[in-house]
Amino acid sequence: MNKAKPENVVLGAGSQEILRNAMRAFVSPYRHLVTAAPTFENCTQMARRWKFGIQEVKVDSACRLDLENMISTVRGAGLIFFNNPNNPTATVHGIKTVTDFVERVRRISPDSVILIDEAYHDYVTDPAYESAIPLALATPNVFVARTFSKAYGMAGMRIGYAIGQSDSVKPLARFKMPYNVSVFGVAAAIASLNDPQHIAEERTRNTAARQFTVKALEDLGCKPTDSQANFIFVDIGRPAREFRDGCAKSYVQVGRDFPPFENTHCRISIGTMDEMKKAVEVFREVLRPTAPAPNAGKSGISGLVR
Ligand SMILES: Cc1ncc(COP(=O)(O)O)c(C=O)c1O
Repeated sequence: MNKAKPENVVLGAGSQEILRNAMRAFVSPYRHLVTAAPTFENCTQMARRWKFGIQEVKVDSACRLDLENMISTVRGAGLIFFNNPNNPTATVHGIKTVTDFVERVRRISPDSVILIDEAYHDYVTDPAYESAIPLALATPNVFVARTFSKAYGMAGMRIGYAIGQSDSVKPLARFKMPYNVSVFGVAAAIASLNDPQHIAEERTRNTAARQFTVKALEDLGCKPTDSQANFIFVDIGRPAREFRDGCAKSYVQVGRDFPPFENTHCRISIGTMDEMKKAVEVFREVLRPTAPAPNAGKSGISGLVR
């Protein structure tokens, strides 16, 4: 395996700085962005604001990135944004699929840069998944973005990084602020990298709370995707706004709208087990079927709250 050297890494004030500088470095009015819908929107928003071309490919029926359809849009792209696991749908692709995708892009459009955003890497339990960092170190025009904002709990420290071949990440450095990261952020990042046990415990805690919440939602007749993150994307069979407003009355906050799924799906962040037990009580109340209307039997109207 290739070992990373300092020239393989560019630090950012959070991985958002990496994403933003990737947009500046690789996308232009002549080189479009390929991304998914829905996915983490930073790149899409920047492309809209700067009037760059965008190919937004809707996720597939399992809410996974639709790689087949993405491939058909990559020719001539400046940047391909590949969020794995994908926020907000919580799904992953295994390393073999990622490697095949990268190889196909390299054949069709060798100058296009592939950004694999692994912000939620530490929460994945799917055995088919592996980080794409070794792939990025071995392959031109591919890099991985990582952050200390999620499992490491250091969002306020604003530290993340890009890692790949030096020629792939060097263009990012051209756009960074001269003193973009703080000594506190760097010191905390180094300390946490030296404490892998902490991340293992965080993954175990998240997995247990995630399994509990997924099961509770399934028991309520909802359909969560195969969550590999610290949030769940779930088909609740009604507009997210309705569910959100209902939960808010009991002081439980759930995610905002994620078009094109705003009328069916909601994103729910995983807290501690105690928090999720309380939240599930509220979900039960909000999703509870209402008492049948007096004429329900005759008219065939369902008793479910819609
Ligand atoms: C997929 C993904 N990438 C990147 C980020 C940016 O995080 P940060 O700038 O805090 O590293 C987020 C934040 O929500 C995210 O969900």
